[in-house]
Amino acid sequence: MEKYNVFDCTMVELDRHHSDRKGNLSVVENGITLPFDVKRVYYLYDVPGGENRGSHAHKELSQLIIAASGSFTVTLDDGNCKRTFFLNRPYQGLYVKPGMWRDLEDFSSGAVCMVLASDVYKAEDYIRDYQEFLRFRKK
Ligand code: TYD
Repeated sequence: MEKYNVFDCTMVELDRHHSDRKGNLSVVENGITLPFDVKRVYYLYDVPGGENRGSHAHKELSQLIIAASGSFTVTLDDGNCKRTFFLNRPYQGLYVKPGMWRDLEDFSSGAVCMVLASDVYKAEDYIRDYQEFLRFRKK
């Protein structure tokens, strides 16, 4: 498995279709928008003020994280460097490569965090202990 660092994780500008009278529409399409095919979509919502999500890493999963509504921050950590992204546009996504510890914080009220993932849910792909994550990164 290739090792990535936080600088390999970038904001992706999504296709945006604008209509003056009817609002906007953004598209994510397999084979066009992303370098991985989407196998699962899930979303976080009703996150109480002051609550954090994430605090784990994935061994192999790639993700695109979108603030479908509202805003929040995502801090990525590759065991060496950290990078914080502020997500507040439904037409932008944060492309998270495998092997990144992530913390999601500062959810605005009504925020919806939509995640497009490269694989189905696999509990064994998670690392939930930070020391174990550091050992995984040093392998
Ligand atoms: P978790 O990944 O820990 O959420 P977060 O990192 O955002 O705090 O998931 C919370 C719960 O939801 C956990 O019990 C596993 C379950 N879950 C699924 O069953 N399928 C999924 O695709 C995801 C992402 C979570």
